[in-house]
Formats: sequence, structure tokens, C-alpha cells
Amino acid sequence: MVRLSRRDALRSIGLGGLSLAMAATGCGTNEEGESEMEETVSAGGPQPYTLPALGYKSLEPVIDDPTLALHHDKHHAGYVKGANAAVAALEEARAAGDYGLIKNHERALAFHGSGHALHTLYWTSMWPKGRGKPSDDLAAAVNASFGSHEKMLAQFAAATKAVEASGWGILAHEPIGKRLMVLQAERHQDLTVWGCVPILVCDVWEHAYYLKYQNRRAEYVQAWLGIIDWQSASERFGMAAR
Ligand SMILES: [Fe+2]
Repeated sequence: MVRLSRRDALRSIGLGGLSLAMAATGCGTNEEGESEMEETVSAGGPQPYTLPALGYKSLEPVIDDPTLALHHDKHHAGYVKGANAAVAALEEARAAGDYGLIKNHERALAFHGSGHALHTLYWTSMWPKGRGKPSDDLAAAVNASFGSHEKMLAQFAAATKAVEASGWGILAHEPIGKRLMVLQAERHQDLTVWGCVPILVCDVWEHAYYLKYQNRRAEYVQAWLGIIDWQSASERFGMAAR
């Protein structure tokens, strides 16, 4: 399988501007050492949403292989399809000048678009057996916002376990107050704080854990803390906090 690059992840969730900002400081080279600026600029215009490839084959034993495959190949693929369908429906509405179903289209765009963005980040929030540690900048930001790494993880785990029905636990950078905050998202799109950039996300829809953990969400979340990809999270924080 092909590793989902930082550039691809950002582009697929519409954060390509962040990679452009990286390139402008000389930081934006991809795995092949190519400049990201030229690609980002020449890409231009809206792109269809696509399902990113996973960067690993297995996250066992924390997440069982059948769940990983179903989650990525079926559930996430459904959000990609839904987001593209919502975009197409809005294009048709504009062409026809008919906004009779605008509420439905906008709700579908928010649900599927947010589902695609969060799943894209979810795959890069994990690594088999975990990877790396928070960068010095991320560690300093965590200490400033939460008091310590342990207090941040405790709040993140508590908030994630307590999500009502289906949703997400999210560690995010909030750029106005320049702080990190832990958020819950119900479904994919509810309870956000606008402007926040997700750094680390944990999916607690039942499709993420039910085959292995049944109704024991807390057990899944606790195990999930052990496979966090701090390297990717640190890269995201570095771009978001510039
Ligand atoms: Fe999911």
C-alpha cells in the first residue's frame, strides 16, 4: 500500500493552503524532495474527493483487521461518495437556479464532508504500536494549555469515551486564542469550534470498534492511546500553529 503523505492528506481535506504556507518557508518538500509549492499552485481549483490509501496494513491487536478494512473500504468510502454527491447536487442547483432542496444539500455536504475530513485525519492519527513522541513545540503547547501531557491525555480520553451516541474525540489547535483544546464531535459535524484545526482524532462511532470491543468503548479508547502517531500529530501542529 502507498503511504498517505502529509501533502495528500492536507489536499484531500481541503487544507492545501497550509502546505503552500510550508513551501513558502522552505519546509515544503515531499517524500521525493520535490517542492510542494509548484504542485499546490498548479493543481488549482476544486478537486474531487478521493479515498486515501492507508499507510500500514494492520493495527492489530488494538484494532482488528476486519474492522480496519470495513471502516476504510466501506464506511470512509461512503463519506467520499457522499461528499462528491453533495458537491454535484449543489452544482446542479446553481445551474438550474433551483434551491428548493438547499437545506438537504447543505446538510449532506456538512455531514459527508466532515466525515471525510475526520476519517482522513484518523488514519494518520494512528501507527502500528504507536510512533514517535510530541515535538518540542507540541509538548510546550500541551503543557501551556493543559498543564501536562498526562492531563491532556486524561481529558482527551474522558471526552472521547463520553461522546453522546456516534462521534469523535479531537485534540485541536484553536488559532484565535492560540491554545490547544479537546473537543467532542457528535456525528461528524456537530459541536465544533470554528477555526480549530484538528491535530489528533479518535473515531468512536461503533463501526470503529464494535467487532472486537462490542459495547466496551472505554476499553477501545484506552487501547487506542497506545497507537497514537505523534510524528504525524506533531507535523500537523507545526503547520497549524505557524
Ligand atoms: Fe468511522
